[in-house]
Amino acid sequence: MPTTEETPTTSPIGRKTPRIDGPLKVSGTAQYASDFHFPGMLYAVPVEATIANGRVKKLDTAAAEKMPGVRTIFHRANIGKIFRSVKGEGLKRICEERRPPFEDDVVRYYGQYIGLAVADTFETAKAAADAVRVTYDKDKPNVENDLKADDDPAVIETTYGPEHRLESERGDPDAAFASAPVKLDQTYVTPTETHNPIELQGTTAIWDGSVLMLYEESQGIFNLRAVLAQMFGSPKENVRVITKFVGSGFGGKLWPWTHCPLAAAAASQLGKPVKLVISRKMMFQSVGHRARTQQRVRLGATPEGKLVSLQHDYVYQRSMLDAHHEDCGEATPFQYSVPNLRVKFGRAKRNIGATSSMRGPGAVPGLYATESAMNELADQLKIDSVRLRVLNEPKIDEGLGIPFSSRHLLECFELGAEKFGWSKRNPEVGSMKRDGLILGWGMAGGSWIATRAAAEASVELRDDGTARVACGTQDIGTGTYTILAQLASEKTGVLLDKIEVALGDTSLPAGPTSGGSQATASVVPAVLAAADHAIASLLTMAATTPGTQFEKRQPTDLAFEAGRVFVKADGPAKGVPFADLLRRANVRFVTGSGKSEAMSGEKKPKFSTHSFGCHFVEVTWQPEIARLRVSRVVTVIDAGRIINLLAGRNQIEGAVVMGIGMALLEHTSYDPQNGAPINSNLADYIVAVNADVPKLEVHFVDFPDKEINQLGARGIGEIGLAGIAAAITASVYHATGVRVRELPVRIEDLLTSSVLS
Ligand code: MOS
Repeated sequence: MPTTEETPTTSPIGRKTPRIDGPLKVSGTAQYASDFHFPGMLYAVPVEATIANGRVKKLDTAAAEKMPGVRTIFHRANIGKIFRSVKGEGLKRICEERRPPFEDDVVRYYGQYIGLAVADTFETAKAAADAVRVTYDKDKPNVENDLKADDDPAVIETTYGPEHRLESERGDPDAAFASAPVKLDQTYVTPTETHNPIELQGTTAIWDGSVLMLYEESQGIFNLRAVLAQMFGSPKENVRVITKFVGSGFGGKLWPWTHCPLAAAAASQLGKPVKLVISRKMMFQSVGHRARTQQRVRLGATPEGKLVSLQHDYVYQRSMLDAHHEDCGEATPFQYSVPNLRVKFGRAKRNIGATSSMRGPGAVPGLYATESAMNELADQLKIDSVRLRVLNEPKIDEGLGIPFSSRHLLECFELGAEKFGWSKRNPEVGSMKRDGLILGWGMAGGSWIATRAAAEASVELRDDGTARVACGTQDIGTGTYTILAQLASEKTGVLLDKIEVALGDTSLPAGPTSGGSQATASVVPAVLAAADHAIASLLTMAATTPGTQFEKRQPTDLAFEAGRVFVKADGPAKGVPFADLLRRANVRFVTGSGKSEAMSGEKKPKFSTHSFGCHFVEVTWQPEIARLRVSRVVTVIDAGRIINLLAGRNQIEGAVVMGIGMALLEHTSYDPQNGAPINSNLADYIVAVNADVPKLEVHFVDFPDKEINQLGARGIGEIGLAGIAAAITASVYHATGVRVRELPVRIEDLLTSSVLS
């Protein structure tokens, strides 16, 4: 089977390429959004509501206003006009919290901004925000964990547009389940999870006359521009967003949050640059989180293990005013072959901040449930869990009734099982041991959408032999700078260290959002086309400009290869480096632009496009002290062509680390008294760290997907998190005999283990 490790290549595509921006980052010279400083800049700190349901009765700002260095305490009465933004067509102007900040005095969640202190220093602004006295009319907040669907209609509006609550249906799932010889009916719960990128969110806003400049760590600068333009009633040309580096996002920085218009409004009122960086605590309150979900999965099967019915009914939490759709059923209709199926969802309003996308939104919690159910069914049937999946592998996407563009999940299982040594698994609980520890082995598969957004790019070839590639996308730590350089290098022959990459600025050609794992797939056609056009422009220049070696030729007589221009009839050996040509012609650069269309949103797609993958996990269990450790993970990913093996592997490793957190550690808890996310700091919200993570083994199967782009590259940011939690909980069961169906697995859950020494 082809795997990327074995593909020999001389092209920059597919190589293990260190990040070109690495030196800037390790030397501290990379400028993140809050590293920009401006003369006269002021600092803003929000006043946070300390109730989750009620009204602000009185905001006493007198003491705060008297503090030396305080400029203004903003609130409803003096912030000025902030308009509401509304969704545009398709995925234009997306925002998860639509109510403009300070629009009314109603508090919907703990930590809602109700005031903003602006001062000469951050410390003064913080002290002033703390000195604002607030009195409230309080109601009891609803942060109840148990989720029952609110009474919702058949079609609901969500952040991304209308959705049918009956998401997918075929055959007669009820009858097929009722008559199935083997049945499974279980409910799985995933907790609220909070994005914890190292870089805090924030904005530095500067008005230059009617033009608003925003330095913001955004995963989607063009969307941010469009939303903020509407909030300030400005033409979008009058808003510019700069995002040079992002200290990761995980979805939390996909769409604008309320701190951004607040900083912009304060800067407008005061006529000074204003910086507002939120605290780690606020990161848990006001910039989105993964919704808690409760998912009932019913499977019906034959004794041989063929699925006959699959029902997936889930409920997720949402905030009072907003409607992020946590699409847990995204993968359910196509992951397995099953003639009778229903996927349906409901929502439950809570007094919490807006829910939003977090790495693999919907599908990741959804696959935790469905893959866990498959593992339980395998145990019930006494069939190997890989074999159960192989038995139910679909030939086409049975949800849409169309073929997959490229699906090689079976190859992933085969390679993963081989690398892990799965055939040595003894299915009996607690039966496997090593060095006095009990071993648990489990596995699961997964998938994630693969698509391409619209993108534009430009490529310049310059007279010093360097090139510049520009695209208004972002690098959120995933390696986009390097990918853009690799693509330009592939076409122009210019080496990576001679390529300047410009991204993260809305004055550049419009680039894709760094979300949904689609930035790479989207920029490929645009950058390659831009490079082709730059080369065509070079050949025309060579044939039409006095002084070049090719002055008397037709552009069609000329060709370009590996950075050199030559007469086709003479062959590349007599070629001239493009820098020579440009210098002779006194031309500093030639340029080309390229554009590619979005493939999502097609009404009737010809192919179902997804990435696939699987995880094989080993845990060790030490019953004497109830210690559980993940000791080995083998992951195999089918994501089409991998453009940068080093950055690609790094993405999957990061996802597996996050998966260990999801399975064993991460959860946000709300205080039922005041509705506060109670563990809103990195000491109490536990993420997986080095000590929790064993050596990770990552493999890519190499099946380019030409439906996505000419290189066959799909995205890889999120697929690595799909299925891992189910693989870990299956390992936990195998080691301990305890079936945990509510994440994260806690030590308390395992104290009932029958596997005691
Ligand atoms: Mo991802 S949750 O689309 O940043």
